[in-house]
Amino acid sequence: MRTPIIAGNWKLFKTIAEAGAMVNALKPLVAGTSGVEIVVAPVFTALRPVADALAGSNVRLAAQDCYWEEEGAFTGEVAPRQLKDAGCSHVIIGHSERRQFFGETDETVNKKVKAALAAGLIAIVCVGETLTDREDDATFTIIEKQISGAFAGLSTDSLAGIVIAYEPVWAIGTGKTATDQQAQEVHVFIRKLVGKIFGQPAANAMRILYGGSVKPDNVKGLMAQPDIDGALVGGASLKADSFAAIVNFAC
Ligand code: 13P
Repeated sequence: MRTPIIAGNWKLFKTIAEAGAMVNALKPLVAGTSGVEIVVAPVFTALRPVADALAGSNVRLAAQDCYWEEEGAFTGEVAPRQLKDAGCSHVIIGHSERRQFFGETDETVNKKVKAALAAGLIAIVCVGETLTDREDDATFTIIEKQISGAFAGLSTDSLAGIVIAYEPVWAIGTGKTATDQQAQEVHVFIRKLVGKIFGQPAANAMRILYGGSVKPDNVKGLMAQPDIDGALVGGASLKADSFAAIVNFAC
């Protein structure tokens, strides 16, 4: 059995005070939730204060990106061990917005994944096709390239520290979610692909999240799919009540 993960990616939203207020409102709404891993990903500046606010709760902390070097003359970057130091257990890597706006490539994703794992962080690795890819029938080709690039040179054992997030770019922030079947189809493809590279036991144990306009009213259908093991939520993760409703999808 794969424990579901519901993760909130807050992107470039919230001050420290707003982030603190959000998690203080969230904690009681999910305090009784079991059998789901709950993660929030604030901006870098809010990580430590949010870690303090979450201490002793069942909500874990992720960063939205990291660099691959441990330290050095790399102005503006943050290393995985510094994220650990700030209280993170997880880090999102390769989000489509980083690929689209900040020059992230499969090669940099691969370096970041290795660095995150070496620092003991769980890497939430994002993949997903654009609308043009889908219209060109290139979805599976793109996903295959992203997955094989992200995981190049990794051992089967290291997969235990990895979660995949399938986020079709056309569904992000558009309100246009993939249908349950569209998402399930790609999740199955990803699991088979991971199985081909790393063996079926590792692939069967791997959590694959769906992301792209996940809301309280569509989460149940997505989570009912056998290969969807959770959600990476953007907009609907910014408010405690809507995020808690997604976390508590099974209730
Ligand atoms: P939305 O839920 O706002 O579509 O964002 C999804 C996402 O990009 C999560 O990483």
